[in-house]
Amino acid sequence: MTPQRLLFPLLGALSAAVLATSTGPVLAQPPSDCGVPGKPPCPLQHWMRVNAAAPLAKRELEGLARAFSAIEQQNPNPKGWGNWGRIARDGEKAAREGSLSAARQQCGRCHRAYRRAYLLQYRARDVE
Ligand code: HEC
Repeated sequence: MTPQRLLFPLLGALSAAVLATSTGPVLAQPPSDCGVPGKPPCPLQHWMRVNAAAPLAKRELEGLARAFSAIEQQNPNPKGWGNWGRIARDGEKAAREGSLSAARQQCGRCHRAYRRAYLLQYRARDVE
C-alpha cells in the first residue's frame, strides 16, 4: 500500500470525529472563546449577571441605578446606537424614582433593540 492510501482514510476518520464533537451553531458566526459550552461567559454577559441581574433580583434600587449608569458608558457604538444611552438613562431615572417595574422594563427594551447585534459584533469586547 502507498502512504497516500493509508493517509486518506485516516484523514477522513479524523475530520468526521472533529465534526461529530463540535457543538453549537457553526454557521455565520466566528469561533467564540466565550459564552458557549465549555468556555467562560463573555465580558458583558458576565458583567450583566453580576451587576444588573443581581441588584434587580434583590430589589436594590441604588445598585440598579448604578448599573444603568455604568451600562450607559458601555455603549460600543455611541454614534450608531443612539437609543442605548436613552434606555440606560430611563432605567437609571426609574430606579432613582423607586420604580422597580419601570426600571426592569428598560432591561428588556435594550435587550430587544441591541442584544442580537451586540452578540454578532461585539461579544468578545472587554467591559470595565
Ligand atoms: C442599554 C442596553 C442594556 C441594558 C439597559 C441592559 N442590558 Fe443586559 N445585556 C445587554 C447586552 C448587549 C447583552 C448581551 C451581552 C452578552 O451576552 O455578551 C446583555 C446581557 C444580559 C445578561 C446575560 C444573559 C445571559 O446570556 O446569561 C443578563 C443576565 C442581563 N443582560 C441582565 C440585564 C438586566 C437585569 C438589566 C436591567 C437591570 C439589563 N440587563 C439591562 C444590554 C443591556
